[in-house]
Amino acid sequence: MKHQFVLIIHLLAASVWVGGHLFLSFRLLPEALKKKEASIIINFKNKFEPVGMPALVILLLTGIIMAYDFGVPVSDWFSFGSPIERLVSLKLSLLLLTFILAINAQLFVFPKLTSDKLNPVAFQIIAVTMVGVTMLILGSFFRLGGV
Ligand code: HEM
Repeated sequence: MKHQFVLIIHLLAASVWVGGHLFLSFRLLPEALKKKEASIIINFKNKFEPVGMPALVILLLTGIIMAYDFGVPVSDWFSFGSPIERLVSLKLSLLLLTFILAINAQLFVFPKLTSDKLNPVAFQIIAVTMVGVTMLILGSFFRLGGV
C-alpha cells in the first residue's frame, strides 16, 4: 500500500517533468524556431522551473524509496550486480545527467540566448527531453524484473 502511494507520487512527478518537456519540444520549440523568438522559450522556462525542479527532486526521493522496496539500498548502487540494481543505477546516472544539463542551461545556454542564436537551446531541450523519455521507458522495466 505504501509502495503504491509512493509510485503514484512518482508517476505524477514524471508526468509533470516529461509532459512539460514534450510540450516544449513539440509545440513551443518549433514555434520559437519558426518565428525566431527566444522569448517563447524564456517565458516557458520561467513558468516551468518552479514546478519542474521540485518534480525532479520528488522523482529522486520517491525513486530511492521504491528502490529500497525492491531491495536495492545505497550500498548496492553502481555495482551493476543484478537486473533491478542495474536499472536503479541507470536511472540515477540519467538523473545526474539531467542535473548536469540543467546547470549547463542555467550557466551557459540561457545567459547567451538570443533570437538569432537558438540552436544551442534547441539542442539542450531535445537532449533533456530524450533523457526524460528514456527514464520513463526504463521505469516500465521494473515490473519485468530489470535490465
Ligand atoms: C525523469 C526521471 C524519472 C522518470 C520519468 C521516471 C519514470 C518512471 C515510471 C513511468 C515508472 C512506472 C513503472 C511502472 O509502473 O511500471 C517508474 C518506476 C520506478 N522508478 Fe522512476 N522515473 C524517474 C526517476 C527515477 C529515479 C531517479 C529513480 C531512483 C532510483 C527511480 C526509480 C524507480 C523505481 C524503483 C520504479 C519501480 C516502481 C514499481 O514498479 O513499483 N525513478 N519510473
